[in-house]
Amino acid sequence: MRLTVIGCGYVGLVTGACLAAAGHEVFCTDIDENRIAQLSAGKVPIYEEHLGEVLQRAVKEKKISYTTNTGEAIRAGEVIFICVGTPPKESGEADLSAIDHVARQIAMEARTPKLVVEKSTVPALTGVQLQKALAAYSPDGSIKFQVASNPEFLREGTAVGDFFHPDRIVVGVEDEKSAETLREVYRPILEKQFHCPVHAGKCPANTGGELLVTTISSAELIKHASNSFLALKISYANVIADLCERIGADVEEVTHAMGLDPRIGTQFLKAGLGFGGFCFPKDIQAFIHLSAAIGVDFDMLKAAERVNKQRIDRFFDKVHKALWVIRGKRVAVLGLAFKANTDDIRFAPALEVIRRLLEEGAQIQATDPQAISRTKPFFPNISYVDDPYEAVKGADAALVCTEWPAYKKMDWEKAGHQMSRRLVIDGRNLYDPRKMQALGFEYYSFGRS
Ligand code: UGA
Repeated sequence: MRLTVIGCGYVGLVTGACLAAAGHEVFCTDIDENRIAQLSAGKVPIYEEHLGEVLQRAVKEKKISYTTNTGEAIRAGEVIFICVGTPPKESGEADLSAIDHVARQIAMEARTPKLVVEKSTVPALTGVQLQKALAAYSPDGSIKFQVASNPEFLREGTAVGDFFHPDRIVVGVEDEKSAETLREVYRPILEKQFHCPVHAGKCPANTGGELLVTTISSAELIKHASNSFLALKISYANVIADLCERIGADVEEVTHAMGLDPRIGTQFLKAGLGFGGFCFPKDIQAFIHLSAAIGVDFDMLKAAERVNKQRIDRFFDKVHKALWVIRGKRVAVLGLAFKANTDDIRFAPALEVIRRLLEEGAQIQATDPQAISRTKPFFPNISYVDDPYEAVKGADAALVCTEWPAYKKMDWEKAGHQMSRRLVIDGRNLYDPRKMQALGFEYYSFGRS
């Protein structure tokens, strides 16, 4: 099939690349000329495991092309995936101006009927507005547009694997024809007819979900409800961690045992600095806003958001307790990305940690395997090093902000020799407190004594 992807960010690029790998012909477009130039030159503008190889293969097989000419891209595809950003406004409400802009472009530029698919995370009822907008912006109303919602459930860092091996593919549609079209789009994924870079072409039989056909409103809600539920789960674990600290219990033991109940599950119960990134913080805000606007009391989401914001305060309670005065102290910050295996720093707890440390007069040596260049423009005056052992050199404390595997494996005996004081404040519970203590470290983490 001929497919158009509008917006080449984390969602659009992975979607375009993987659909091309599944055998479709994909036309990617973005208003960011720099991004399109990079892609056309064979460079991948974001760090996402396996994305480079999938794109490379698609280019070689002539399955993917990039253009800033949105009109051309719109005319080329039978199905158009909207993958543009929906950032939060000051009020928390999602800013849908990019979607509106794209709707206008589609209506103006299309010459044949199109199935227009929302892939960006949008509030419920956006599909209705999108359908109205396409009709209203169409110059003479002669072209028919169908709208569908096909939310993505990709996690940054494992997005390519998630795309090829989805738990579920949700398609919210207005009619059976749109459902059929989207079934055809995803058929190669469901039938595993693609070269999987994650398993080198040999995917285990049990990977791959089912395609669910729903209404557009249900599809929109499924996405918001899923992300908000996961965010609730994390905040719940974080409150349990605070309780554990007060009563001398161990949050890892508690959440592990809780998670063995299949009704609860072990994932997303990791206590620490809380959730960041461009999805959970923004989606939870948008969901709160939407619920209030339609008169539904969803206060528990507000509580989850509040708990998450307070994680940085809890972290600083530990920093103050351990370091006492921060001014003039040399602090190593391990991890800048909002989570491991990505270079994304949007709403990353580490950035707020750095901001507060600077406010209190610390000297910072920051490190991250991928996110240094993205962080530099925000904090140009702190020092950055690639090697974590270099980062802790002469430090009065090391603050762990991201759960990178390299930090998990860190040799603290070796690192301890470099530090001016053996002090680690771990925002991600990466280490065994007894082992750290045995190495002579003063060690603080969340929910463990
Ligand atoms: C999230 C969802 O997991 C995806 O399913 C969804 O498609 C995506 O948002 C989206 O809406 O686009 P992502 O933001 O990439 O994916 O990251 P997650 O792996 O979900 O982690 C989110 C945050 O929660 C991270 O800051 C992570 O460190 C934190 N987290 C996660 C915890 O603090 N504890 C946990 O137990 C798990």
